[in-house]
Amino acid sequence: MTDTRKLNLLYYNTFSDCRDIVANAAIPIDIGVSYINDINEVMKHIMSRDSIDIFFIDYDGRAELIDLVSKVHKYDEDLLIYLITDIDSEEEKIKAYNAGVIDFFLLPLSSHILQALLKNMACLRGSRLKLYNKTNMLQYEIEQAVKTVKERELESLLLLARASEYKDKDTANHILRVGKYSAIIMENLGGSHEDIELMLYSAPLHDVGKIGISDSILNKSSKLTEEEYNIMKTHATKGYEILSGTKSKYLEAGAIIALSHHEKYDGSGYPNGLKGDSIHLYGRIVAVADVFDALISERVYKNSWTLEHAVEYLKSQAGIHFDPVIIEKFLEKIDDAAAVFKNLMPEK
Ligand SMILES: [Fe+2]
Ligand SMILES: [Fe+2]
Repeated sequence: MTDTRKLNLLYYNTFSDCRDIVANAAIPIDIGVSYINDINEVMKHIMSRDSIDIFFIDYDGRAELIDLVSKVHKYDEDLLIYLITDIDSEEEKIKAYNAGVIDFFLLPLSSHILQALLKNMACLRGSRLKLYNKTNMLQYEIEQAVKTVKERELESLLLLARASEYKDKDTANHILRVGKYSAIIMENLGGSHEDIELMLYSAPLHDVGKIGISDSILNKSSKLTEEEYNIMKTHATKGYEILSGTKSKYLEAGAIIALSHHEKYDGSGYPNGLKGDSIHLYGRIVAVADVFDALISERVYKNSWTLEHAVEYLKSQAGIHFDPVIIEKFLEKIDDAAAVFKNLMPEK
């Protein structure tokens, strides 16, 4: 809808001598006039055009005409509805005003008076359209601004996740794949669009705490000593400390994930040894996604496993390392996960 388009008047016309008077008043001031005399066609006409601004009804006291006014007014509250009538009763007027009529034209109609009134109506409707367009434009600008801010936030999240991976020497795509597997699981669990998006963007932050672990431990190809392993394990709480306490829902989810992605379903994980459902759902999801990707990827300390081997391992760990429900939901979508791995292959 533009604010410069020609205004249109729809006339439900049954009074034989009024048609020309309305046309003579409207057309010279550039208001388009269309006529309709089948009451059943009115709504269809208004809905299909979406560009009717003024609606005149010849009113002879039939109740169905007041019902029509109600319907039209409900569909478009801004439509200017007027009755042309010779009924001048207070009771009729109250009924009509309540249904959404703006005012009455009492017969006989004067073309000059009608034209003066139509000019006012055109002005009123024009201002409304301008306001409508301005509101739409403002809303569009706000939506664009929000989108831009969100895009910047997501870019920053990815940079942060990449910083941790850069130190870890895992392939850069590992974090993206873990985000995607986690989103697949959340979707198959029936999570909301917001939850799915949270997993997609927050799961890549699971190892941010590795920024605080020394390279000699992170990249050691031989087995870690117990002391080194204990230091390595602190990446979960370090990640939580780095990510928590902000107003970003992605960072907040990232903090939960960092803290809980090494907890195990049977309580033998770290840092808190939580068991079963007391491990946050996000952590239970990312645990599966993270381990699955590590298994089928090559790492400094191991060759890549086949998909079948990895699936067997995940199944064998249901109820031990992993939440059995998450395993079930993930394995239902294993083809999607394999496609993610293929499309985001580790860089050699
Ligand atoms: Fe980790
Ligand atoms: Fe990871």
